[in-house]
Amino acid sequence: MEVVNRLMTKGRSNSEIEQSAVRVLIALFPPFLLPLFKMLITPIQDGKIASMMLARATALSCQWLMGTCSVNSVDLPDGSSCSSGVFVERCKYLEESKCLGVCINTCKLPTQTFFKECMGVPLLMEPNFSDYSCQFKFGICPPTQDTDKVLQEPCLNICPNVQRRRNLRVNADTTQCPKATLC
Ligand SMILES: *[C@@H]1O[C@H](CO)[C@@H](O)[C@H](O)[C@H]1NC(C)=O
Repeated sequence: MEVVNRLMTKGRSNSEIEQSAVRVLIALFPPFLLPLFKMLITPIQDGKIASMMLARATALSCQWLMGTCSVNSVDLPDGSSCSSGVFVERCKYLEESKCLGVCINTCKLPTQTFFKECMGVPLLMEPNFSDYSCQFKFGICPPTQDTDKVLQEPCLNICPNVQRRRNLRVNADTTQCPKATLC
């Protein structure tokens, strides 16, 4: 959280923050794993095998970061369903950061970009800001950034940066988070 908050308060643009976070994700993997996965696994059955593998790997390896998660089933655009979902009951990362902009700019957008670009698998992440749950859907393309409803949500009241901004009278009337990096 310290690293993330430093990243968020350096006055960088949202896309710079997203790119830094994608670099962090890439660095977690051995060098040849990502291109090999994309080349060998992703093409099998239109990516379904890759989507199911990634859901399992995410549920197993990310509990330290997000808390309890389990694999579930998602409906694919072709009408079939596939066990390529991960349901995070109450995301610790979101709960600790307390800020919608941190969730969106350092987690949702970079993670979606990472799986698409580095592994060839589309991913939609649907955080719920009322109960801090999050549904991952591997194999589903995210909507564009101007139509994704999650990006239109107002700042969370518990976000300390909102209060800080009010005190500084910086954009005091800005309630939309995506454009206001800090909340
Ligand atoms: C978010 O969670 C709340 C509480 O569990 C629920 O009532 C609401 O329908 C959920 N929102 C979405 C978009 O799923």
